[in-house]
Amino acid sequence: MEKKNLDWANLGFGYVVADYRYVSKFKDGKWDDGEITTDATITLNECAGVFQYSQSCFEGLKAYTTEDGHIVCFRPDLNAARMKDSCERLEMPVFPEDRFVEAVEKVVKANEAWVPPYGSGATLYIRPFMIATNSVIGVKPAVEYEFRIFVTPVGPYFKGGAKPLTIRVSDFDRAAPHGTGHIKAGLNYAMSLHAIVDAHNKGFDENMYLDPATRSKVEETGGANFIFITKDGKFVTPKSDSILPSITRRSLMVVAEKYLGLTVEHREVLFSEVSDFAECGLCGTAAVISPVGKINDHGKEICFPSGMDEMGPVTKKLYDTLTGIQMGTIEGPEGWVHKIL
Ligand code: PLP
Ligand code: COI
Repeated sequence: MEKKNLDWANLGFGYVVADYRYVSKFKDGKWDDGEITTDATITLNECAGVFQYSQSCFEGLKAYTTEDGHIVCFRPDLNAARMKDSCERLEMPVFPEDRFVEAVEKVVKANEAWVPPYGSGATLYIRPFMIATNSVIGVKPAVEYEFRIFVTPVGPYFKGGAKPLTIRVSDFDRAAPHGTGHIKAGLNYAMSLHAIVDAHNKGFDENMYLDPATRSKVEETGGANFIFITKDGKFVTPKSDSILPSITRRSLMVVAEKYLGLTVEHREVLFSEVSDFAECGLCGTAAVISPVGKINDHGKEICFPSGMDEMGPVTKKLYDTLTGIQMGTIEGPEGWVHKIL
């Protein structure tokens, strides 16, 4: 298979139109058989549910070329399950989980030429999503939907790759108590846009959101969960009903305990504890693990001992082990690495 002629090593996190996408439509109470298509456009009525009341949700996962030349993706069953949760919360029809995984396989196979080579530093980002397509004017769920998966080759989510980030404590919330913070609804990201633009304008890479009810506990950023390492080497990560259950974070909890022998604490994390931690990182499919060097809390700086030049030593071990599993140089737990080709 001849690969596309891209400058793989210098890709950013952007949209590059690949050749094929998967599409399936829901009508009269059922999903059709689905197909691979070359058409990257969607034409809808102006009154479609997605435009009026934002009925949309999505997922994000990646395909990798392993050292021995296979193409794999990472725990796609968990993306299928999380999309089911998103659909149920948004009154959208569930795309069957086994069909979700098959569709990921189909679209990656069709776009084999777009899967970045091993060692290039790039990966193929896979974006499944679902939208409400029929016209809806009274506030109610639509009855017709489209499920799609497109792919795009990507480099690092944060410019500078592994350089520590500077983030700020946000005065805006991304989620409400008992709201939709725990699912991957497009509307959560619309909510976060003003906060991210404002953060960037003020020279910060991202926002740290605190719990919306009390503003005393750490939640997550707009697109990643937090991990912390304590001075005595424990792995700590926030537990909350209003953060997205990151697949990367859930995997890192296992890596930390089973591969690195660390004590893992998944619990409420008070913001007042953060200044005592030795290392801080953001984790997610797009972010992988991005180290945080500094947190600005309304002018007061928390500077982690790991500094602004490189990842902290434990974060680096977590990063190397997780990416080693994903790229096939380290044996992962049963079922984590899903072979496509
Ligand atoms: N938190 C938010 C708000 C996200 O958008 C993402 C990205 O998917 C994550 C966390 C990380 O989740 P995952 O590791 O499953 O990609
Ligand atoms: C991901 O990590 O897959 C995300 O969805 C984060 C961001 C691009 C929204």
